[in-house]
Amino acid sequence: MKTLLIGATGTLGTAVHKELSARGHDVIAVGRSAGDLRCDISDPAQTAELYRRVGRVDAVVSAAGDVPYKPLPEMTPEDYRAAFTGKVLAQIELVRQGLAHIAERGSFTLVTGILAREPIPTGSAASMANGALEAFVRAAAIEIAPRRINAVSPNVFTESLADYGSYFPGMGSVGLDEVTQAYVRSVEGGQTGQVYAL
Ligand SMILES: NC(=O)c1ccc[n+]([C@@H]2O[C@H](COP(=O)([O-])OP(=O)(O)OC[C@H]3O[C@@H](n4cnc5c(N)ncnc54)[C@H](OP(=O)(O)O)[C@@H]3O)[C@@H](O)[C@H]2O)c1
Repeated sequence: MKTLLIGATGTLGTAVHKELSARGHDVIAVGRSAGDLRCDISDPAQTAELYRRVGRVDAVVSAAGDVPYKPLPEMTPEDYRAAFTGKVLAQIELVRQGLAHIAERGSFTLVTGILAREPIPTGSAASMANGALEAFVRAAAIEIAPRRINAVSPNVFTESLADYGSYFPGMGSVGLDEVTQAYVRSVEGGQTGQVYAL
């Protein structure tokens, strides 16, 4: 399976890359600053160029997305715009433009996060972005069949607790091994329109 993986060198992307490669996928790793190909998916023109270079793919998998974290009174319109551009529109463009490049029964797997359903202080832009993407995934699924689309919506990663654990008091965590299995379920299974809340 020819699989385009965006954010392949991040914490999540590295784990997804390893698992999909071990399962025999031909993974094309994409990042802004590292990977087989460089692309900033928040720029629709760069996404178009990425698809032009890779040609036809069987799966598009995203482990990317940037949002600002700040107390709500300090958020500016630009911060919310940045969250929309860096996480929501960036991944929507992977789907919208990808329709012309993906196999007839290919799949898109996007990444959202627990803040869509369980807010934390400073996380309003992330909650907005994740919630918007999850609504998009459900809506897109009914229009793109037989192509499929799902979202992986994880808790804070156990492996990221040292960096972010203090922002998620009493919320537990999820191991990257479990998160990568949700990607496998999305890419290799038959489900569509699902949000895998982990
Ligand atoms: N960490 C957690 O505990 C956690 C929990 C739930 C959800 N998530 C979500 O999971 C995703 C990945 O998180 P992470 O912790 O793995 O992040 P990370 O370690 O910072 O890695 C992010 C990766 O995505 C790439 N990337 C970011 N923006 C991009 C863009 N516009 N175009 C292309 N590539 C881009 C980065 O590339 P460069 O380094 O080259 O810029 C990097 O490879 C994020 O959407 C995050 O919100 C994370």
